[in-house]
Amino acid sequence: MSQSTMIHHSPAWQRLVAHAADMRDVHLTSLFTEHSGRHARFTRRGAGLTLDLSKHRWRDETLAMLLELAREADLERAIARLQNGERVNLSEDRPALHTALRLPPEARLVVEGEDVVPDVHDTLARMQAMVEKCHAGQWRGATGRPITDVVNLGVGGSDLGPLMVTHALADYRPRDVHQVDIHFASTMDGSQLADYLTRFNPATTLFVLSSKSFTTIDTLSNASTARDWLMTRLADGGQDTEMGELVMRQHFVGVSAKPEKMSEWGIDPRHQLRFWEWVGGRYSLWGAIGLPIALAVGMENFRELLAGAHEMDRHFRDTPLEDNLPVLLALAGIWNVNFLDVRAHSILPYDGRLEYFASYLEQLEMESNGKSVTNDGEITPYSTCPVLWGQLGPNAQHAFYQLLHQGTQAVECDFIAPVRRYDRVEDPATRAHLKAQHRLTLANCIAQSRVLMLGDEALPSDAPRPSHKRYRGNQPSTTLLLDRLTPRTLGSLIALYEHKVFVQATIWDINPFDQWGVELGKQIATETEQILASRRGAEALDDSSRGLLDVVWQAQDAT
Ligand code: F6P
Repeated sequence: MSQSTMIHHSPAWQRLVAHAADMRDVHLTSLFTEHSGRHARFTRRGAGLTLDLSKHRWRDETLAMLLELAREADLERAIARLQNGERVNLSEDRPALHTALRLPPEARLVVEGEDVVPDVHDTLARMQAMVEKCHAGQWRGATGRPITDVVNLGVGGSDLGPLMVTHALADYRPRDVHQVDIHFASTMDGSQLADYLTRFNPATTLFVLSSKSFTTIDTLSNASTARDWLMTRLADGGQDTEMGELVMRQHFVGVSAKPEKMSEWGIDPRHQLRFWEWVGGRYSLWGAIGLPIALAVGMENFRELLAGAHEMDRHFRDTPLEDNLPVLLALAGIWNVNFLDVRAHSILPYDGRLEYFASYLEQLEMESNGKSVTNDGEITPYSTCPVLWGQLGPNAQHAFYQLLHQGTQAVECDFIAPVRRYDRVEDPATRAHLKAQHRLTLANCIAQSRVLMLGDEALPSDAPRPSHKRYRGNQPSTTLLLDRLTPRTLGSLIALYEHKVFVQATIWDINPFDQWGVELGKQIATETEQILASRRGAEALDDSSRGLLDVVWQAQDAT
């Protein structure tokens, strides 16, 4: 695409620029007084989710123009190409088929001459066998004792998705099975792992090595520390070769798109789970990378998670753009970023179970759409992914909401909450207390988005207030209500954001499925590590790096 045919030259984009000039000074409060029934006009439902987009600084005609922009970007065809397995990941020349991981067994999806669904379900069946063995207390360590602790070693997409879902679905842990606790270690400095190694029994600990590439140094460093720990404690430092073999077989599972690398590392082929190059790391929790989730909540619940995501996939594919949840969520973002200059986005779940949801979305959104080059290699003359961060809403109220309410930045906020909670708590008195806490949380969720919108107008009286107590309001927000937080609705929620990212990438004409921006840092870190260890070659570095290395060496020499 040449400069002149880029999306910002399209008639819809130009109309939106002109329209934004009119909308820039319109306060959200006046939009609500223009027409009654704004909530109904800007709210859509689907897959157990209610999406209220009424608190955005837009009108009906804004949305109509944004939908026109989406059509000019040929969005409908892009959605079909994604789900049909076409090579939408242009820089790596391959499909991006996370949607295939949640297809039901009876579906067929022929990608480049081969139906991928049987392989997907074969992997699910192998996961199920592993999960059932653990839950039956039949997965035994090298000394014959059943496994009690599973540690996932992975980072980025091989950590954040499983961590987030395992935490979110903790209520769904099966009770009538042999209990296995799931833990996560991601950081290359070994902080999490070091703690586990002091507390866990090597005889009953299983490590899952999760790495699509099986080359990620963070994960391989943790894995090698774990292997040495097991060997020292169970196999006489590897001297006892029979025990050493048992350790490798019974204490390690590998999950990767590179079976040969897993074998090289020593993972028994029977304990290798595969996925495919056509699944992006940050889109991979739906298959073998989801093993920790399945171990935590059981395979039935894991399949429910997939079913919820699949429901959203069908909604995304089959629903007209004007009622399509991911499309509308994406368009609200495009409007804010590209036309109203709102370039920060906060994710605010009002449910402690979604503690890791914002971290998960940080990777999903910013690693996918943090790009400044179009698919044709042109520099994007428009903004792309905003800075996105978040925290549990109730905790964030006592941390950074001050900035949302009275700071100088415009911030788009996503408020997320389940409508019902605690129905399954058995003790009636505790249930009543917890339901009251849930009510309090919902009230805060609704109140905060209202205050961000209205500012001082939310106050019952208009008595004069000193300027430090004034709220200007007018912060745009989305409210997303889940009927309940279940495996199914969580699957739909995650898929909603995956597709939102895809819609925005399509309009911005960038590739959401590669991440070349992280490669240079990895390369330079490898070189720096060599200099740090050998103390040779620092003279070629910049002054700051040299100075910092000197501080480290002096400290090492002093001890
Ligand atoms: O460095 C970024 C990244 O490649 C992410 O995209 C990925 O999720 C993470 O590292 C982990 O990669 P892998 O699963 O190959 O270990």
